[in-house]
Amino acid sequence: MTDTNVRALPLAASPAAEPAVPLDLTVVIPTFNEAGNVAPLLAKLEAALGGLSWEAVFVDDDSPDHTSDRVREIARVDRRVRIVQRVGRRGLSSAVVEGVLSSAAPVIAVIDGDMQHDETVLVKLHEAVAHGGADVAIGTRYTEGGSTGEWDKSRELMSRFATWLSHKLLGSDVKDPMSGFFAVRREVFMEALPNLSMVGFKILLDMIASVDRNLKIAEIPYTFRNRVHGESKLDSKVTQEFGALLLEKLFGHIIPIRFLMFAAVGGLGLVVHLSTLGVLTNVFRVDFKISQTVAVITAMSFNYVLNNSFTYRDMRLRGAKFVRGLISFYLVCSIGAVGNIGVGDYIYNLHYRWWLAGIAGVAVGVVWNYAASSLVTWKRK
Ligand code: GDD
Ligand code: MN
Repeated sequence: MTDTNVRALPLAASPAAEPAVPLDLTVVIPTFNEAGNVAPLLAKLEAALGGLSWEAVFVDDDSPDHTSDRVREIARVDRRVRIVQRVGRRGLSSAVVEGVLSSAAPVIAVIDGDMQHDETVLVKLHEAVAHGGADVAIGTRYTEGGSTGEWDKSRELMSRFATWLSHKLLGSDVKDPMSGFFAVRREVFMEALPNLSMVGFKILLDMIASVDRNLKIAEIPYTFRNRVHGESKLDSKVTQEFGALLLEKLFGHIIPIRFLMFAAVGGLGLVVHLSTLGVLTNVFRVDFKISQTVAVITAMSFNYVLNNSFTYRDMRLRGAKFVRGLISFYLVCSIGAVGNIGVGDYIYNLHYRWWLAGIAGVAVGVVWNYAASSLVTWKRK
């Protein structure tokens, strides 16, 4: 291809193309059921970002209230607005990551889609990382001049506790590591990317913990507003997901947290198995073989439901896929059981220690079940 051909590329030649003002800032907005907030938020962004060349990327997890369609209506007439609609997946952190990866700006800001974050602070966040030498700029609720607005006591206490915990565990003294409101230079984000665990919603914390050097962090205070439209999605999941992220960051490089959850569910399954067996044989005097079969199926079903709701909550199977998943899980676990018995038997014949044989059998069974079910039951698309 000659130089002339390159210059003649249709986009550059098209009379409809907008004047080439380079993009300064991409604002990534994760949404779930925020239809009523889309237009007002964009109006606020427009007012706040006047001096910058910006775009807004909504990353919506196929919200039942059709947030994506609401964004599209506006995006059709305003090229600064884009939508990434994700289907069959949930999660604030992973949504933010996909938004960032869809953009070309040198600086990326992340802001909630519900107007609880003060968008007038965005310019300062951008300034701090674009020209102020900071790697990350955080909108902070706890410095002088910032506040949590009208949070209820329990939520405020929990948030403070989580902040304290993350200081202790991650050795960072960021005032508001839980913030979902920040700006970062693209190359800093890319540095963190390979190590991100993307569990839950603490993308900022995840990012800071995923970079091997001490980042230069700017903190800019703001007042957290109350919600007007829609409702919070994080209230109920806050503790669980935060705990999972901390564990992952602490031990994730040794044992994947998913495996630990899977094994814990397996332990509960054993309790279910034995209780079912005990009740059927002792109370109802059912034949042992039948009792054992019923107990196996009960325990496997129990484990499947639990793993589907917790261990693999981010890939939860529903409807017909739920049934298909259950059947494949039965198959995987049956093979696991055969392996469990086989290895146990083998070790027993070598050492004649029942407990060692038992543990070896269970270990092989769990590892197999985990590996195989993550390949066939909850497979990544
Ligand atoms: N794509 C996507 N997928 N977006 C989501 C999901 C999800 O699974 N869950 C929540 N969101 C979006 C919401 O629509 C909203 O725009 C934003 O993420 C924050 O969710 P809220 O449900 O409004 O969170 P909050 O106000 O309770 O939590 C705030 O405080 C946390 C600290 O305790 C937010 O500022 C969080 O970012 C912050 O970490
Ligand atoms: Mn909110």
